[in-house]
Amino acid sequence: MTAKEQKKRLKEIKKFNAKKYKEYNKNQKRKRAPESEYVTKMNDNDNIIEFDNLKTYFYTDVGTVKAVDGVTFDIKRGKTIGVVGESGCGKSVTSLSVMGLLQGPTGQVAGGSIRFNQLSKNRAVDLTKLPIKEYEKIRGNEISMIFQEPMTTLNPVFTIGDQLMECIALHNPDMKKKDVEARALETLEMVGIKRDGMLDLYPHELSGGMRQRVVIAMALSCNPQLIIADEPTTALDVTIQAQILDLLRELKDKINASIMLITHDLGVVAEMADYVVVMYAGRVVEQGTADDIFHHPSHPYTIGLMKSKPMLGEQVERLYSIPGNVPNPINLPEHCYFKNRCEMCVDKCEGAYPELISLSETHKVSCYLREKEVKGEN
Ligand SMILES: Nc1ncnc2c1ncn2[C@@H]1O[C@H](COP(=O)(O)OP(=O)(O)OP(=O)(O)O)[C@@H](O)[C@H]1O
Ligand code: SF4
Ligand SMILES: [Mg+2]
Repeated sequence: MTAKEQKKRLKEIKKFNAKKYKEYNKNQKRKRAPESEYVTKMNDNDNIIEFDNLKTYFYTDVGTVKAVDGVTFDIKRGKTIGVVGESGCGKSVTSLSVMGLLQGPTGQVAGGSIRFNQLSKNRAVDLTKLPIKEYEKIRGNEISMIFQEPMTTLNPVFTIGDQLMECIALHNPDMKKKDVEARALETLEMVGIKRDGMLDLYPHELSGGMRQRVVIAMALSCNPQLIIADEPTTALDVTIQAQILDLLRELKDKINASIMLITHDLGVVAEMADYVVVMYAGRVVEQGTADDIFHHPSHPYTIGLMKSKPMLGEQVERLYSIPGNVPNPINLPEHCYFKNRCEMCVDKCEGAYPELISLSETHKVSCYLREKEVKGEN
């Protein structure tokens, strides 16, 4: 492309983005909207959340990044789902879309819906259409998020007590100060770090593991229905990691919440998750129960991931890593996104992106190889 063509192209992108920002801005500024615009119905009342063809794009200066491009999966009430995939495949963007925390104006939900089963109100809402006022009631209340690095959640200039109590008071505006403090101590006890003077400490006076416990205490202080944990233990050492995971599991059962656990670590998923979703370049390529994914991986990418998982007591010279790179999210091909790295290609792979097909009631995969199995041609 010549410099002139390049300049023209960038100008076109800018114009296109400006139009998009204007379109989205109009909708998002609304503080209120009639219920009929966002109240919806769950496909299955047993689910806490249903992602339905979710598309989240970033309208950047160099083009549209299709970070999440048609993601569909459900999370059942009281269950843990592990979301796995290589760096940049759209895991965090999916969770930020749930929380309504996308970096605007570039980041926008461009299509699809996220149905949330709002049990407190006995109704379902589409989070992608929710006005700000309603979102504020759900975020941090019925849906909580735990980030990888506790310091992104904690403010270094306030004590643990101030932050925990502020969080409790915000969600319980009628609670008396004395009761808020009692609740804060109760939550610290729940996460195993209650001791004299703890409420007066600053975040830097705690260890990484203790800080993450405080963040978990804050996330759970309002009994959320859904906890989104994005790499909650990656910044911690292995023993602390195990303790934090045990804690999450125990607390989740206590409050009967669901967990969406995002991680690179298949070991963590194997230990924690009831269901697994495998993402690749902004799409779900395989999903199923933990048993489906770990014992019957079907997509060549999942099979590759399983090979890259170190097994305890197994001597490997080098950890297997899948050769090649993820395609550029600005310029995604028409065919299967994994094709340039796939060692199992068949003729059909040259064609359109493969549809998600069901191998069993729980197990789904998006790959032409498996289409044959479903049709019984093998
Ligand atoms: N603010 C942003 N502006 C532009 N592109 C973004 C932005 N945030 C994320 N992206 C792009 O969206 C895609 C998905 O990113 P995401 O953060 O969801 O990846 P991830 O799966 O969470 O990766 P990791 O495992 O490294 O955390 C990436 O291509 C990333 O570059
Ligand atoms: S559809 Fe084809 S290229 Fe894609 S993962 Fe399956 S076999 Fe490989
Ligand atoms: Mg991430």
